[in-house]
Amino acid sequence: MAIRSIRTEGDPVLRKHCRKVTELTPKLAELIEDMLETMYENNGVGLAAPQVGVLRNIVVIDVDEEPNPLVLINPEILEFSGEQTGDEGCLSIPGKAGVVTRPDYVKVQAMDENMESFVLEGTELLARAICHECDHLQGTLYIDKVEGELKDVVHEEE
Ligand code: NI
Repeated sequence: MAIRSIRTEGDPVLRKHCRKVTELTPKLAELIEDMLETMYENNGVGLAAPQVGVLRNIVVIDVDEEPNPLVLINPEILEFSGEQTGDEGCLSIPGKAGVVTRPDYVKVQAMDENMESFVLEGTELLARAICHECDHLQGTLYIDKVEGELKDVVHEEE
């Protein structure tokens, strides 16, 4: 496992669309391990593959206090509802945060690190993280949706 360097805003890789994963190669398995390690090292609650320069449909999320890593390969949002408005940040935009409105409930289908299909439902922070990370796979950043100005923050959050 290794910590990978995180691409920051302005890097064109963050604006590209990702390709679907059809087979979990050893290289992609290693990528997933590295993404988790990189997310934890940077105290993020989520990380998408393009943030480490790989244009594949893979995100990792952990919004819990105790380690509870979620791996979502080829995630597809099936349903969403409600609304939440709150601060959001991104490891690719260090030191900044801004207000974004997201659904308050999301149901997503994805494959896990064993390429087994599963359905995940999330509310509150988990719903926000799923939306934020899935956006990354389409080249969308939260600053595209921010309401008002970006703020400077001491702690980085995703
Ligand atoms: Ni992000």
